[in-house]
Amino acid sequence: MSIYNYPEYYDIAFGYRDLDLECDFIEKQIAVHSRSDNFSLLDIACGTGSHLIEMGKRGFDVSGFDISPKMIEYAKKKAEQNGIDAYLWVDNMVSFSVERTFGCAINLLTGFNYLLRNEDVEEHLKRVARVLDTGGLYIIEMNHPREFVTNEPSTTNSWVEIKGDVEVEVDWDNERSSVDLLTHIVTTKPIVKVKDKDREFIINMEEKFRIYLYQEILHYIDCSGSFELVNSFGSFRFDKPLDNSKDSWRMILVLRKK
Ligand SMILES: C[S@@+](CC[C@H](N)C(=O)[O-])C[C@H]1O[C@@H](n2cnc3c(N)ncnc32)[C@H](O)[C@@H]1O
Repeated sequence: MSIYNYPEYYDIAFGYRDLDLECDFIEKQIAVHSRSDNFSLLDIACGTGSHLIEMGKRGFDVSGFDISPKMIEYAKKKAEQNGIDAYLWVDNMVSFSVERTFGCAINLLTGFNYLLRNEDVEEHLKRVARVLDTGGLYIIEMNHPREFVTNEPSTTNSWVEIKGDVEVEVDWDNERSSVDLLTHIVTTKPIVKVKDKDREFIINMEEKFRIYLYQEILHYIDCSGSFELVNSFGSFRFDKPLDNSKDSWRMILVLRKK
């Protein structure tokens, strides 16, 4: 079982995010760093499509894919309800392809951390480079690298969100393992409790994700031969650099296609 099979509850659980702030961030990075005048955006591992829909409202030509058919089915409905003409499809970020290019790609809320093996990262970056215009950006939001050392999440790991009659309680880092020293992989067993009017049920998940170090990512970028790092942040607030302070709780990297 996975919350990714319950997109309507996923949207409630992760509804705490400031979508406007995150999309302002994307627009600002494009304005400052992009060398492409193509106002199109590809949302990689797009989930329920919240960001691409908001970027569509801001005038971007938007597309996205996700490995979960349920997430894509829901994202399609949501885009339609919002009057956004988005191209959405089911695909894997390690093997995806699409016959066009984009001015910007995004991969938010730690989707990149689902790339578990070295060869997957290499293949993924190769494929993103193929679908980006020269000078286009790839914006990635990852777990903060300090988690490699602390063996703890850098953010609140359990929370409750309520929308109308629905309450979703999440314990994302239940039974979180230490970072494996050789693979850099962490395992967790997230528990999501849903109360929807008279119906109550529990989604028991098993997750594997990889913690990336900053220098490791720099090396992948270098080896790709296709990207350069143009900025890094510790949150979506523009004044939060990537560092070891408490306010820096994500690793957000802005790559540009050479
Ligand atoms: C934490 S969610 C983030 C979704 C979305 N980016 C957001 O900000 O709400 C991670 C997403 O990654 C997707 N995913 C996991 N592995 C994937 C893969 N190999 N290729 C494409 N999508 C993948 C999951 O189905 C899920 O929708």
